[in-house]
Amino acid sequence: MKKGVIRPGHIQLRVLDLQAALRHYVDLLGLIEMGRDEQGRVYLKGWTEIDRFSVVLRQADEPGMDFLGFKVVDDATLGRLGEELAAFGCQVENLPAGELKGCGRRIRFEAPSGHFFELFAEKEQTGKWGVSEVNPEAWPRGLQGMKATRFDHCLLYGVELPETLRLFTEVLGFSLAEQVLDDAGRRVAQFLTVGMKAHDVAFIEHPEKGRFHHASFFLETWEDVLRAADLISMSDTSLDIGPTRHGLTHGKTIYFFDPSGNRNEVFCGGDYHYPDHPPVTWTADQLGKAIFYHDRQLNERFLTALT
Ligand SMILES: [Fe+2]
Repeated sequence: MKKGVIRPGHIQLRVLDLQAALRHYVDLLGLIEMGRDEQGRVYLKGWTEIDRFSVVLRQADEPGMDFLGFKVVDDATLGRLGEELAAFGCQVENLPAGELKGCGRRIRFEAPSGHFFELFAEKEQTGKWGVSEVNPEAWPRGLQGMKATRFDHCLLYGVELPETLRLFTEVLGFSLAEQVLDDAGRRVAQFLTVGMKAHDVAFIEHPEKGRFHHASFFLETWEDVLRAADLISMSDTSLDIGPTRHGLTHGKTIYFFDPSGNRNEVFCGGDYHYPDHPPVTWTADQLGKAIFYHDRQLNERFLTALT
């Protein structure tokens, strides 16, 4: 938070078939539809999220992530960070208020990894879905499927990890919470957080720039993760791996694919990070255990299926 970036705000994903995607994200994950725009994009959120939306689906010819957006404290901070991003060497694009429905002006930039990120200061807040803001009940009735509570983080594959880390830490105020070092001590994975979570965005070194590995949604309990696994089978959804536990962050997790081939994760638990904590390090010879703590070996699909 030290540079004024508060938290993840939204992700825009490309899907091949909007109706199939909605059956997946709404009926199976349990996200709530919060509206559509004249471009045909659909706005979704997890029920605990205060903002109007956190996930935007756009129909396109190729799957993948358009951008990941972070909220900053105010408009002056947004302006200052735009200048600092330009000084860092990023191409910065200004998007007017309302280009995303209910969201204020945004600045978009490309990180050295080849991914597009955005910052914004204002977004309409509609409060938690289905519960009152005063004397709120524990949860709302009528949630569907996995009852995903919130969009949590992304894992991205790309190039130029050191410069990407420098951008996120020096300009945007993120901390390096976890890392994987290879035999030569070179960082091949970096998990970054701007608050207390184990990660808000993570990067894995990869020869191609700008690839998307997964978008992750938070569930409350391990029982919910097992129930998600049941729902994946019941709906004949393509399973990647799990339920299992990660070594990195220690979250309890399951991975699966949306109908367009974008990978999703739902998870619970996991470590926390305070800004004075040194990064947790995993060594590449233990990579299997770092990623899948129980199996202790990597599955080829997990490393290579990207959008
Ligand atoms: Fe994840």
